[in-house]
This record gives sequence, C-alpha cells and structure tokens, in this order.
Amino acid sequence: MTAETAPAEPAAPTSGGDRAFGIDIGGSGIKGALVDTTTGKLLTSRVRFDTPQPATPAAVTGVVGRMVADSGWTGPIGATFPAIISHGVARSAANVDHSWIGTDADALFTGATHAQVTVLNDADAAGLAEVRFGAARGVKGVVMVLTFGTGIGSALFIDGALVPNTELGHVELDGHDAEDKAAASAKDNEHLSYKHWAKRVQRYLSHIEALFTPDLFVVGGGVSKDSAKWVPLLDLRTPVKVAELLNNAGIVGAAMAAIERN
Ligand code: BGC
Repeated sequence: MTAETAPAEPAAPTSGGDRAFGIDIGGSGIKGALVDTTTGKLLTSRVRFDTPQPATPAAVTGVVGRMVADSGWTGPIGATFPAIISHGVARSAANVDHSWIGTDADALFTGATHAQVTVLNDADAAGLAEVRFGAARGVKGVVMVLTFGTGIGSALFIDGALVPNTELGHVELDGHDAEDKAAASAKDNEHLSYKHWAKRVQRYLSHIEALFTPDLFVVGGGVSKDSAKWVPLLDLRTPVKVAELLNNAGIVGAAMAAIERN
C-alpha cells in the first residue's frame, strides 16, 4: 500500500454524517479515501494498492477488505467497478476478469469489510462527481460524461439524474466496437499521435451526438490531463468540457453513491 500524498489532516472520524469511504477499482490500481460528500473533498490521503493479477473476485475483494481495515473506517462505503453493475451484480466484463459476470460485488465487499458497500459502474461514479462538483455542476438537460481509458465509459444525466449503465463505449461504429478504436488504450497500443487519435474521438463523439443530442459533453479519464492536445481539435455542435475531478472522480462518486443509498 502507498499513501499518495502526505497526510495533512487530523485523525479522521471512523464513521458517520455525510462522510463515506470511496474506492475506485481500476485495471492497474485500487485507490481509496474518505470523502466529505457535501463538498466532494477528500478527508484523508488517497491510498493505492496494485490491482491483483488475475483480478478475480476473491483477489480484488481481499484488497478491498484490507484497504478498509487499514483505514479504520466503519461507516458507508462506495466502490466503482469497470463493468455493468446492476443492483450490485456485475453483468459484463469487457476489460476485467470474466469470472466477475454474475458476481454480487455488493455482497462480496460487504462481507469482507463488515460495512455496507455500494458498488456502481466506474463511469457512472465519475459522472456523479462531475455533475455535483465538477465540469457539469448545475447543468440542466442532457449531459453525457465520457471517460477515455482502457475502455470508454459513459454516464448519461437528465437534469442531474443518472441513467445508469449506458455502456456507450460499446456502440458499433464503422464495423467495430467503438472503444476498440477510440479509447485511450487504442492510442497507446497503436502509438497514435493526439492529432490522429482525436480524429477517432471526433468520429465517435459525432456519432453519440447524432444519437443523443446532448447539451454538454464532459470528457474525462487519464487523457484529460493532456486535454489541450486533443480537445481543441474536436468540432461538434455540443459544447465539450474537460472533467475537473481528474484522479478523484471515481472515489468521490463512489462515496456519493454510498450516501445516497442510505
Ligand atoms: C466497460 C464499462 C466501463 C468502461 C470504462 C468498458 O469497457 O464496458 O462498463 O465503464 O469500460 O472502464
């Protein structure tokens, strides 16, 4: 385990109020922190564990249990997962171990932490955080948050309300699963320049724009830190904003989901 930033806070309380522990489960790292869900601020340093390989349900659950035990937190917990999560159960596994399909992630993590854990799709979590505290704060109408990483995650909001599990990274486009061509991983794997990759993102976003006519796109994921290299190249009717919570969006959104469930 590593603490990613020096702790600057007094000892955090171990339960209660509008605080929840948020956990962001990704392909390479599992990150967590205590969050004040009224402000979207982290109340503790982020901790990070490497994602176990293979990332089976048992191995990932072990890491989640250890992270929560180390934190001393006993209140509500939220966790993101990069797949369809319907009522706590994983229903897809595009970029994760296939043994997750049909696994009740809520129940597994709840068992390992002895606290109620709410699991939701990673992009939905990032979207919740951006709509409440970030780039889409206060925006009415149809907001589409898209995260570009190993896959493409999508979160659709109508007047601030989430429509969960939209999975728009998997629309078929030009005969391909769209995320195979336009995710950030395609840029890396095919050694594409930002200019070249931005053409693929343009094609993808124009397709989504034609299908949904959003009022706002928010683009996030690791590549959003280099947004100046590709976002200005996009030419769409829909305004495009860059995600603001960057690395913390998943943690914050997961914590928000935990509080909203209670
Ligand atoms: C998965 C989504 C996930 C996205 C981003 C896609 O391959 O199907 O559930 O949100 O990747 O991680």
